[in-house]
Amino acid sequence: MKTNFLVLGGTGFVGRSVCERLVERSGGGRLVVPTRRLGHGAALRPLPSLELVEADIHDDAQLAHLVAGADAVIQLVAILHGSAADFRRVHVELPTRVARACVAAGTRRLIHVSALGAAADAPSNYLRSKAEGEAALKAAGLDLTLLRPSVIFGVEDHFLNLFARLQAVTPLVPLAGAAARFQPVWVEDVASAIVRCLDDDRSIGATYELAGPSTYSLADLVRMAGRWSGHERPVLPLPGWAGRLQALAFECLPGQPLMSRDNLESMRVPNVAGGQLPGFEALGIKPAALEAVVPSYLGGEAGCGRLERWRAERA
Ligand SMILES: NC(=O)c1ccc[n+]([C@@H]2O[C@H](COP(=O)([O-])OP(=O)(O)OC[C@H]3O[C@@H](n4cnc5c(N)ncnc54)[C@H](OP(=O)(O)O)[C@@H]3O)[C@@H](O)[C@H]2O)c1
Repeated sequence: MKTNFLVLGGTGFVGRSVCERLVERSGGGRLVVPTRRLGHGAALRPLPSLELVEADIHDDAQLAHLVAGADAVIQLVAILHGSAADFRRVHVELPTRVARACVAAGTRRLIHVSALGAAADAPSNYLRSKAEGEAALKAAGLDLTLLRPSVIFGVEDHFLNLFARLQAVTPLVPLAGAAARFQPVWVEDVASAIVRCLDDDRSIGATYELAGPSTYSLADLVRMAGRWSGHERPVLPLPGWAGRLQALAFECLPGQPLMSRDNLESMRVPNVAGGQLPGFEALGIKPAALEAVVPSYLGGEAGCGRLERWRAERA
């Protein structure tokens, strides 16, 4: 069936995989991806029937215009770093306004990607604001599905790639939150889950926890990233006070911090599926193991990551 999609956050790491799937799923319908800057969506340009548009989605009139033509909205916009006000603007106010625009336009279907561990009493601004955003969406009375992934890996992830790059240039890794637990999930499985939800009305009103088949500590993940990229370095777990000091130092540097104090707060709760909510099994998806995917893209010059670097240099 011909379906028009609006993908908010479609230019991001998860969004790119989601858009590839939705182009197939749209059956010749339109796939609109707003972005703050057209250059952010360079990787999406080759996709047929995808319209990349420069827009300010925080502006109600522009948002209303974007939502008006859509049969379903996929909401992926989020930030990992910022002030409490930044988290509120992006994780609470934006979803609230998206829901309002959907109600006004009669666009009932909305899929929102949140995060594992989102809770009103969570220790970080990131997780608390994610929970508040979820609550605002639930209150809107739309045909809503919420997805809560653990940390996501994939060719262009900002996580294992970062630890691999770091170990290529440092003799050891002083690591805050080394014992924090994660259940990493493959970006293609997250994209499959979104498409499955669109195809299955039983997902309406549901919240899914999207977690991979195994649990690892952060130190395990750093070591694996080092080993698979050919630069394994010793990991030096930092005590809490030193981790917070390191995070503060990162926050003072220009650009996005490698790790912020709020990230450390998030890691105080295990980023693993709780088991009370449905997950991949309910969607008929068998999630891929980290070991089956990551070596192919972190594997130095032998891995497919080199092709991504080549693409990025020419984008
Ligand atoms: N990656 C993970 O490990 C992970 C784990 C758990 C949950 N999630 C969730 O999955 C979703 C997608 O994550 P991702 O990793 O794909 O994120 P990402 O790569 O950082 O992409 C974020 C997207 O949001 C847009 N965006 C960012 N800040 C914005 C702002 N202030 N105003 C408007 N648009 C803004 C960006 O669009 P433009 O720059 O083009 O405007 C970009 O398309 C998010 O909800 C995230 O919380 C991700």
